[in-house]
Amino acid sequence: MARFEGKVALVTGGGSGIGRAIALAFADEGSRVVVADIEVTTGEETAHAITEIGAEAIFLQADVGKKEEVKAMVHKAIATYDRLDCACNNAGIAGTMARVADCTEENWDRTIGINLKGVWLCMKYEILHMLKQGHGVIVNTSSAAGLMGMQGWSPYVASKHGVIGLTRSAALEYAKANIRVNAVCPSIIKTEMAECFTGGDQRVEAYILGQQAMNRMGTPEEVAAAAVWLCSEEASFVTGHALAVDGGLLAH
Ligand SMILES: NC(=O)c1ccc[n+]([C@@H]2O[C@H](COP(=O)([O-])OP(=O)(O)OC[C@H]3O[C@@H](n4cnc5c(N)ncnc54)[C@H](O)[C@@H]3O)[C@@H](O)[C@H]2O)c1
Repeated sequence: MARFEGKVALVTGGGSGIGRAIALAFADEGSRVVVADIEVTTGEETAHAITEIGAEAIFLQADVGKKEEVKAMVHKAIATYDRLDCACNNAGIAGTMARVADCTEENWDRTIGINLKGVWLCMKYEILHMLKQGHGVIVNTSSAAGLMGMQGWSPYVASKHGVIGLTRSAALEYAKANIRVNAVCPSIIKTEMAECFTGGDQRVEAYILGQQAMNRMGTPEEVAAAAVWLCSEEASFVTGHALAVDGGLLAH
């Protein structure tokens, strides 16, 4: 039997990259999937790709940085499927490259607003429902940048460190309520966002890859496999963990 038969998974940022791979991996394992994204076209494409493989999905448009939209997203997911077993709070942005002293308030607020406040808002409404149903699993997408510094990207790095703090605190608060909360921490993964970090410059890319023992980019599917494992029964004793999926970057 597929690991997620009869279950329902919500994936934010499901229209692209890692989120799309997570949504497809859940569907492949028997789950019904709620694909959420701010972008309608790509989000609908993911939901369509899921129905193409014979699984069930709906798309919901939501900006994770906006409370009313997140609340409506979670309510609609539950109104549709009457349960929420797994939630992957994955939507995020790179923000704009700037050193601390040059960073604008707008860049700071936008990056923190989506990457950190967005994860908190999603968890808030997911957990309220999971408490009622008596179980649930959450995986937040942090980053290797949640466990190390990165020159030029302080709002992103701060947001991803924050996601790990939120993950650990929620894991402690809700462990006895049968809700597990973990994070995945990918290093550079071949998606549109990777191009924000390299700026499409081969030398920057070679430098970044050189930091990773495996000397290559990861794939969205490799991150999805880790996220889905954390949501599975196989990880039933794992909570509050920040799992690096990083080709050895953090082993240095
Ligand atoms: N690609 C990498 O190298 C890398 C490394 C570490 C962590 N991550 C993290 O992985 C996650 C997914 O990134 P990705 O690489 O797949 O990038 P991506 O740009 O391909 O996907 C991000 C998705 O999030 C959506 N999104 C953006 N803002 C949103 C908002 N306000 N509300 C709802 N959806 C929104 C986008 O529309 C897009 O579909 C992000 O949290 C990112 O920080 C990526």
